Formats: sequence, C-alpha cells, structure tokens
Amino acid sequence: MVLDSMFSNSLITRRNALKIALASATGMGVKKVWDNLDSEDVFAQEYFGLNSLKQRAAAKGLIYGAAIPKDYLAIDKKLADSFVRNCGILASDTDLKWDALRPTPDKFDFSKGDWLLRFAKKQNIPFRGHTLVWYQAFPKWFEGVLNRNNAEKLMTEHIATVTKHYAGQMHSWDVVNEAIEPYHRRSDGLRETSWFKFLGPDYIELAFRIAAENDPKALLVYNEASLVYDLRSQEMRRDFTLKLLDKLKSKGTPIHALGIQSHLTGHLNILDAKKLRDFLADVASLGLKIMITELDVNDFELPFDIATRDSLVASKLEEFLSVILEERAVTTVITWGLSDRYTWYSRYKRADSAPVRPLPLDSDFKPKLAWDAIAKAFDNAPKR
Ligand code: XIL
Repeated sequence: MVLDSMFSNSLITRRNALKIALASATGMGVKKVWDNLDSEDVFAQEYFGLNSLKQRAAAKGLIYGAAIPKDYLAIDKKLADSFVRNCGILASDTDLKWDALRPTPDKFDFSKGDWLLRFAKKQNIPFRGHTLVWYQAFPKWFEGVLNRNNAEKLMTEHIATVTKHYAGQMHSWDVVNEAIEPYHRRSDGLRETSWFKFLGPDYIELAFRIAAENDPKALLVYNEASLVYDLRSQEMRRDFTLKLLDKLKSKGTPIHALGIQSHLTGHLNILDAKKLRDFLADVASLGLKIMITELDVNDFELPFDIATRDSLVASKLEEFLSVILEERAVTTVITWGLSDRYTWYSRYKRADSAPVRPLPLDSDFKPKLAWDAIAKAFDNAPKR
C-alpha cells in the first residue's frame, strides 16, 4: 500500500534526502528549513501530502474528509494525525445532535462543537454540522416536553440558536436528516416523525428557511439514507426524495445540496449503476450539489479472513465511488469515521465477534485496501 511504504523505515532516509534537496533548492541552510518543521507528522503531512486522500480529491476539485466525534479526536493523537494527513473537511458525528447540544430544555452546550470547529480552523479546513432536525438522538427530556403547542417554537428556536452560534463559520449543515420513509405509506413518502405529526409536511421547508436566515453563508443540505441500491424500498425513497427536492426548489426554499449517506453493505451485489447515475443526474438537474456524507461499508456478513474481507470492502467502495464521481454535481466525499478503531458499527457484533473493518484505515491507523480504493476512485474521477 502506498502509505505503508511511505511511513516505514525509509522515512529517515527520504527525510534526509529531502532536507538536502530543499536546502539546495531554496538556498537556505539545512538547519533553517528543518527548524520550521516540528515533528515527523508535520513532515509527513507537508511533504507526502500529495498522496493523501485530501490531496488526491483536491486534484479533482473534490473535498474528502471524515466525521469524527470530539471525544476521540481529542484523546487520540494518532487519530488526529491521521485525520490531518488525510482529511480536507471535518464533519460532526454525534456532537451537534440534539442530545449533545441540549442537556436541559433551556440550555445549550456548544463545548464539543466549538472544540471541533477550533480543530478544523487550526488545520485551515472547513467544518460541517450534522444535524438540526432528525427523528432520533433527542435528549431524555424531549418527549415529555414536546407537544402540539410548542413544537414549532422548539424546532425553530433550536435551529436559530445553533445556526446563529456558528454563523459564517460552517461549510454546510445537514438541516433535515432522514425525513422520508416509504414504509409509512404516505403518498408524499414522508416519515411520520414527531415534527411531522405536530407541524405537518411543511416543517422541512420551515427548517431550511430558519437556517438560511441565521447563517446565510452555510450550504444547506437535505441528508437522506438508503438511496443508492437497486431495492424496491430504495427506489421508492429515491423517487420521494426527488419529489421533495423538486417541491422545495419550486417554492424557493434555500436548499443547496442533497446529502447521500452511503452506508454500503459489503455482502450484497445490489448496485445498479444506471439507476444510481440517473438519480444523481436528476438531483443535479434541480440545480443542487451532491455530497456523500456518511460513507462506510458494513462487513457483518463478509468472511472472517481479513485479506478477503478487506478486498471485498474495497471493491464495494471502488464500484460505488466510480459511479458517484462521474457526476460533476458531486462535490464532497465524507467517510463516517476514518479508522476502524472508532466506528459506529463496533457496537453491533459480527457472528464470529471479529472486529469490524468498514473504514479506510485499520485500527492501528494503517491504510487498508479501502484507502487504496478511495484513492484510486479520486485518481480516476473527472475533474470538477
Ligand atoms: C450514528 C452515530 O455515529 C452513532 O454514534 C449513534 O449512536 C447513532 O447515530 N445515519 C445518520 C447518523 O444520519 O447520524 C448516524 O450516526 C448513522 C446513520
């Protein structure tokens, strides 16, 4: 693997070679050049950066990054270093959901979100927020408090306070997440969430308008799950999503992009490239950008053997990204985590109890075949 060899024993030799090359190229003394670099990691980041995922994506006008909870990024230096080396955007995972931000009905706790924003700023990369309106991740107090009379106030105040707090500093917000559920059998496909129950179908438009009023700079995203496969339920979800986006756009709603979560399934061959391509083109024709917001591959049903498993995970990523990246409206690819050490899938056990391997780096932060697959997909992608 590319990075394996780059960060192995040859580092010192290559480092020395580079010192000399740099010194002669710039006419500066070796010491002076070198004094500006304070660690091996900075070295790797600065001088091997051209091969990292973020650089390969950037070469095509794309942004690559990962969603990582603050608690992992803050305590694990290797994770932070791997993140810095590979990622050109940071996304929140758990830290900007209602249950993280709202310890009590009248209190907001921005400490973890603020930490993530500072981290991103320090690296000079954008930060994106997930998610303002969802049907999950509510704090314990929420159910006892929400009712028909206060639902609109609760939702709009939440969106306004949070978007105002981060105004002008966000790359994008997942304003509404997973609002569609074909199994709920409504003709518009909307999921019957508490927001829907109390506010009706227009809660979605309202959410976007409040977000835009308070942070006119952020890209406002509708984020949805289970959109990519050739399954009846996903085909229905694609249709309902298109109808929803079309309706929002025709009403002049400030919506800028569709987020496609992309939690892929390792053991199923159910991707229909043409159907997916057509869907992406339809979204793009509405004047919307497309972001891949939560990419990973669940390997629960894949064989135990690591080489076999990793190669199957990698081939799913390559197959998916090769279709997705053909569409020029796709701007961003974000994996839901970076290293197998920290993945939301580890809470669900494989039958053989083997640790799961859904992400680009293994649990020791070494690039896997999944990393290569993503790198290759960026290399093969047309330029934006
Ligand atoms: C997941 C988090 O990663 C977990 O830590 C949490 O317990 C459950 O939610 N789709 C989404 C994300 O939009 O918010 C979910 O995140 C993963 C599925």
